[in-house]
Amino acid sequence: MCGIVGYMGSKAAYPILIKGLHRLEYRGYDSAGIALLSDRLELNVYKTKGKVADLERFAESKDVSGCIGIAHTRWATHGEPNEANAHPHYSQSKGLALIHNGIIENYTVLRTELESKGYTFRSRTDTEVIVYLVEYIMQTNRVDLCTAVQLALHQVIGAYAIALIDRNNPDEIIAARKSSPLVVGIGEDEFFLASDATPIVEYTDRVVYLNDEEIAVIRRGEPLKVVNLNNVEITPEIKKLAMNLSQLEKGGYPHFMLKEIFEQPRTLQDCIRGRINIEGTQVVLSGVIDNRDKFLNAHRIIIVACGTSWHAALIGEHLIEDLCRIPVEVEYASEFRYRNPVIHPGDIVIAISQSGETADTLAAIELAKSKGAFIYGICNVVGSSIARATDSGSYIHVGPEIGVASTKAFTGQVTVLSMLALTIAQQKGTLSQTRFEEMVKELQGIPDKLSKVLKNSEVVKELSKIFTYARNFIYLGRGYNYPAALEGALKLKEISYIHAEGYPAAEMKHGPIALIDVEMPVVAIATTDSIYEKTISNIQEIKARQGKVIAIVSEGDEMVRGIADYCIEVPRTLEPFAPLVASVPLQLLAYYIAVNKGRNVDQPRNLAKSVTVE
Ligand code: F6R
Repeated sequence: MCGIVGYMGSKAAYPILIKGLHRLEYRGYDSAGIALLSDRLELNVYKTKGKVADLERFAESKDVSGCIGIAHTRWATHGEPNEANAHPHYSQSKGLALIHNGIIENYTVLRTELESKGYTFRSRTDTEVIVYLVEYIMQTNRVDLCTAVQLALHQVIGAYAIALIDRNNPDEIIAARKSSPLVVGIGEDEFFLASDATPIVEYTDRVVYLNDEEIAVIRRGEPLKVVNLNNVEITPEIKKLAMNLSQLEKGGYPHFMLKEIFEQPRTLQDCIRGRINIEGTQVVLSGVIDNRDKFLNAHRIIIVACGTSWHAALIGEHLIEDLCRIPVEVEYASEFRYRNPVIHPGDIVIAISQSGETADTLAAIELAKSKGAFIYGICNVVGSSIARATDSGSYIHVGPEIGVASTKAFTGQVTVLSMLALTIAQQKGTLSQTRFEEMVKELQGIPDKLSKVLKNSEVVKELSKIFTYARNFIYLGRGYNYPAALEGALKLKEISYIHAEGYPAAEMKHGPIALIDVEMPVVAIATTDSIYEKTISNIQEIKARQGKVIAIVSEGDEMVRGIADYCIEVPRTLEPFAPLVASVPLQLLAYYIAVNKGRNVDQPRNLAKSVTVE
């Protein structure tokens, strides 16, 4: 979703800002813009619909001088993607420029008030009211920019991460956040500002994550100052970034998504590292151990998440109920937050989020917190809003995920959920030590099994050519593999724009089987498990109606091979880990079909990596 970059220092701001915007492209956007305070102290704003490259072309012949500036990629919410609605927005006098992520809910009221005072707006956005309001307050109250921002934000209802620069002050950037992320990078006599650390990492590893209703006062020659809306000063907590630059580059792959698919053997190793003892007799997820009693006494666990993370949550439900015998409910965060759910103080709410910034998941956490639940986070992005809003949690440690379609984060989430279930099960004594050690050993071997799956990628690539022009797809799975089927379908629709649905295989005969004919490809996950025979019957039902079956089968499988049209083999594993090995060929299938169709795999249309608005 929208991306913010800012710079103030002694270097030319333009190349730093443009590079920063490129780094944020993965978040998804439809227009881009930049504001620079030039060497001649002019406040220049350039913006275009389309990509950052379009902005660069547009700015080619323009004055891009200046050592201070702010830049933005916009993912349209209020007002179509066009130049007028793109950020930065000037204030009425063009003395200020502002960029904004989030949504201002009371913007119509504020806009009407300002219009009644004679202001005329240039865009259809909710954002423009903020900069008009700030300027109005500066002029009528005769206060400086920071004070005007504080006063303005008291009137604003909604979510925001904002940054402003002032034509009359080339030595200051004011930035603030509420429910939308903002990071300040501290270099040698220079400051960086961004929605996440990716544009900052090549310049400094010292960052400050702003908290809600905090304002960063960035002034040349002064240390970073953080104040709240009431002007109380807050000591900024400087964190060290663990991320490195190579993690943000494609490393020779044509797309980030392919790189991230192929990284999975290593990312899962990173995820497991240090959490299982050398003998394989203990799993220590410290967040769980530190809160042992809460987990042991929990009557119920609720998992909230969105999209791919919600699919991981469904696998978590199987794992926790199966291994720990604790009832689990999985909820879409967006539904949970608005449906007055019953939550008891002893309940545990697990929030899963790759980005750690998903607005609905964050709101679900706040709701559960207000009702006394203990909140456990499973996030990828270190220092993200969700990671900070939870009582405890575990990072998945898979490194930055840049491709919009989530791949390595999904397998990382499932791996953490597996370790979480194993940790609780061991503490609770719901699993025999023999079974426990068998599972731990198998989990440790999953990275190698994924390497084996990836060695077979050519098979999937060839298969993708047969189905590139299919108009619909159905994905089937049962038990642990049902969420993997949902995830396979989501991957395909996101990046290829082919309509795809996932179903529990046995549900087909309750309706969806009517869709089956010779033109309907059906991907059936039929790895050898406790309900293997039942899945085979479901495949027979599809074949009886001329559906084309692509089956994901365990190595050496003969039964399904005799029925299905095409088979992709994956290494045998224990049933709870089947989704880990089965999801990789499904990621590859979606990827290759999308590439065959010429789609923008890493930045599919209409999608954002980090969904910071509801
Ligand atoms: C799918 C995808 C999305 C996200 C969803 C939640 O490939 O990326 O469905 O899974 O928007 O995002 P996070 O996990 O960041 O909360």
